[in-house]
This record gives sequence, C-alpha cells and structure tokens, in this order.
Amino acid sequence: MYKTLLTETDRGTLVITINRPDKMNALNKDVIEDLGKALDDVYHNNEIKTAIITGAGEKAFVAGADISEFVGLGKEGGSELARMGQANVFNKIENCPKPIIAAVNGFALGGGCELAMACHFRIASANAKFGQPEVNLGLIPGYGGTQRLTQLVGKGKAMELMMTADMTGAEEAKSLGLVNYVVSLEELLPKAKDILQKIHTKAPLAIESIIACVNDAARCNPEGFDNEVERFGVCFTTEDMKEGTGAFLEKRKPSFKGK
Ligand code: COA
Repeated sequence: MYKTLLTETDRGTLVITINRPDKMNALNKDVIEDLGKALDDVYHNNEIKTAIITGAGEKAFVAGADISEFVGLGKEGGSELARMGQANVFNKIENCPKPIIAAVNGFALGGGCELAMACHFRIASANAKFGQPEVNLGLIPGYGGTQRLTQLVGKGKAMELMMTADMTGAEEAKSLGLVNYVVSLEELLPKAKDILQKIHTKAPLAIESIIACVNDAARCNPEGFDNEVERFGVCFTTEDMKEGTGAFLEKRKPSFKGK
C-alpha cells in the first residue's frame, strides 16, 4: 500500500513507521506523499483512534528532508517543497482531531525534528538526538521548525539551536520541554502505546477540542480564549458529557462514544 511506510494497527492506534533506514529515513517526495495518505487514513478511518509516528531501525527517527532532492531547486521550487510538505503532512498532523505522537528512536534532524514537533507530543529513546542543522546547508528550516521550535523551547534556545546547528540529546530535550519522556529503545513503543490506551478511555470530542484550543495557544491566536468558551459550551451538547458527568455522580467508570 505504501512505498516508504510500514503501518500496523494495535488496539486502535495506527503505528506509522517511516521505512528508509539505509537513508536514515530521510523525507523524500515518496515519504511525504505516503505520510499524507496515512494521515488521511487517521482522519477518516473510524477504527483508528490515535497514531504514533516512528522511524525504522535503531539509528534514526528521520535525519531530515532528503538533501539529494534539493539539487537544482530555485526560489519557487524551494518554497513549493516547503508549502506542499507543510500542507500535506506537518500541518495535517498538528490539526488532526485525533492524537498523534512521535516516538523518536534516534536522529531527529531538520525535517525529522520538525516532524516530531508537528506531533501533539513526543517520547524519545535515550539515544535520540534533536537538531535543526539546515544552517550548515545554507538553509533555514522549511517544515515549520522556526515556528514550532520557538513555541516549544522559547525564543532564546530556539535561536541558539538553529544558529549553531547543535544537536540536543534526549535528556536535554526533555529538560527543554521538547519531549515528555525518555525511555529505553525497547520501551519506546510500549510507552507510547500505553499513554494512547489511557487517552482512548477519555471523551474523543473533548480530546479534539483540547487539540484545537492548545494549538490556538501555541500559535498565539487572539481568538484562543473565545474559541475555548465556544468549545466548552459545545461539550455540553454531547452525549459524552452527559455520560462523563453521570458516571461521576453514579460512582462508575464512564464509557464514551465520541458522540
Ligand atoms: N538526506 C539524504 N540522505 C541522507 C540524509 C538526508 N537528510 N541523512 C542521511 N542520509 C543518507 C546518507 O547520505 C547516507 O547515504 P549513503 O549510504 O547512500 O551514502 C546514509 O543516509 C547514512 O548516513 P551517514 O551520513 O553515512 O550516517 P552517519 O551515521 O555517519 O551520520 C547523520 C548520521 C544523521 C549525522 C548524517 O547522516 C547527517 O548529518 N545527515 C543530514 C542531516 C541534515 O542535515 N538534515 C537536515 C536536512 S535539511
């Protein structure tokens, strides 16, 4: 079904593995196209409640956009590459109404760091390394890195990381707020799946609104507070809200239907 991805569904979680380990899982056109299709599946397939994005092998999550595809590009070609990637993959991940998390299993450089940052949150294995080394190539990040790294780690550190191209290890990435947990490579997918299983027990429409409202905050959207008020109200019209509050009052576990 996909040229460059492996996918499997485990208890409602689609695990998307970028599978070009001999090229450090670099994002070429095929990977971008395949990721776009896999994301359409996450959006539209009711069997899929959440997703994990990870990389094949033990060395790399994704070592960036495929540099060999940069050759011969001019201004329009460069902008188009960034625009298409952002629209079809990176923004689609961020705006997905279902949680998508990154399980970062090695190098997450350039577009790889940007891919992880587009996810709703990140878990790393101890060998993970993050960085935006585009400046080494005479480039800047083009898949949202200047924006999302600044949102996640703050302006000063983001400036430093992008200007120096320095790599950040997993523990430092955790202390910067770039990743939520650091675990062993063996524990990486189990940990990601465990968190998602917990999320599966919560109200899906409320989760969808949390994603939208937190994205507003991260983008400094001035409508963020108003959107929260609106969405809070909409929650009161859902069956899940009646179920959740009813279950609390009846001292039982809620069973949410996403309605
Ligand atoms: N684009 C295209 N090919 C890439 C790549 C990328 N971003 N990153 C790695 N590769 C390829 C290498 O060219 C090499 O291919 P080859 O075996 O056909 O020569 C293969 O993946 C293995 O990489 P290699 O550099 O030999 O591994 P390493 O362990 O010595 O170094 C990295 C690993 C990740 C540090 C190094 O590959 C690297 O710096 N990659 C580029 C990172 C980058 O600048 N990303 C931002 C892009 S905008």
